[in-house]
Amino acid sequence: MIVSPTADNIRAASKIIVSGGTVVFPTETVYGLGANALDELAVRKVYALKSRPIENPLIVHVKDSSQIQLYTDLSDSEVKSRLELLESLWPGPLTVVLPSNGSIPDIVTAKQPTIAVRVPAHPVAQELLNECRVPIAAPSANPSSALSPTSAEHIASELKADIILDGGRSKVGIESTIIALIGPVPLLLRPGSLTVEELQEVLKEEIADVSESPLHIEGESLISPGMLPKHYSPRTPLIFIRDFNPSGQRSKRVGYIGFKAPPEPDQFDYAASMVLSSNGDMQQVAANLYAALHDMDGRSLDLIVIDDCERSGIGKAIMNRLSRAVSQK
Ligand code: TXA
Ligand code: MG
Repeated sequence: MIVSPTADNIRAASKIIVSGGTVVFPTETVYGLGANALDELAVRKVYALKSRPIENPLIVHVKDSSQIQLYTDLSDSEVKSRLELLESLWPGPLTVVLPSNGSIPDIVTAKQPTIAVRVPAHPVAQELLNECRVPIAAPSANPSSALSPTSAEHIASELKADIILDGGRSKVGIESTIIALIGPVPLLLRPGSLTVEELQEVLKEEIADVSESPLHIEGESLISPGMLPKHYSPRTPLIFIRDFNPSGQRSKRVGYIGFKAPPEPDQFDYAASMVLSSNGDMQQVAANLYAALHDMDGRSLDLIVIDDCERSGIGKAIMNRLSRAVSQK
């Protein structure tokens, strides 16, 4: 059931969380499928609804940074001082992986000694966290490996949460930047709208980018199990425009997603075409990316072709998602 985020409905959603149910809620990045992070059975429902592999841990959402010490081990002074610097970016599209203090059930952390935490900025997420007074474990509200939702209409019908709070379109539009403070240097596990350059400025030190080393192994465990090679995919086959050969495709219904400009008129007769940012603003490209893919996916096309961009600034996050979303060769 999709409902508007009135005070009554947020209260109802909060009761669902506290009593062990599941709630889809908006965040500024993408919509999340949440459950009480302290309730193992509730979190199991999240994995089941998404068909998510149990080895892939969840992000724990808290209402403000003062909550983080409840679930983490900040005895290492270097971790603590790095975290203090990053806290200036919260609430916002940042997730930090920290040593866990063991208080969050194994089901959330996939038995890793670490925990990923985030303070979301969306007012509905904030109100929900304020009301329920428990940490909320929430992955993106999509079936595993499918496109993340950036509005309530994108929530797949098979994702049967107890309630869906409609908070409008997610402004950032791609998942949070994930940084891990678990070793000698800060690690970038997933790029996002907060760029490496911005994070380095806040941290006043270099960050090691491991986001394109999928299944990076440290000791026995995977640093970021979610960085699987296939992810974020529409149902319709998707390829980069540079890999598109129009000859022999004339009878096919092809959709075009341009970042800055529509296709050349004489190039191909596209069944649908869309431009993500007519002034070439890459933050806007990111914000509209999933919505455009959801839209194209609903048009019974044979193929979607999409632009690519340089892997710098937010382009790193856009290409990180798209290189996993394109159809595997
Ligand atoms: O923007 C976001 O982060 C959204 C909203 C809902 O907050 N959430 C989100 O969750 O993108 P999800 O589950 O789709 O992606 C979480 C990623 C996964 O790649 C997972 O492997 C990684 O975070 N992760 C979670 N806990 C971790 C941990 N302890 N160590 C390393 N990676 C972790
Ligand atoms: Mg996800």
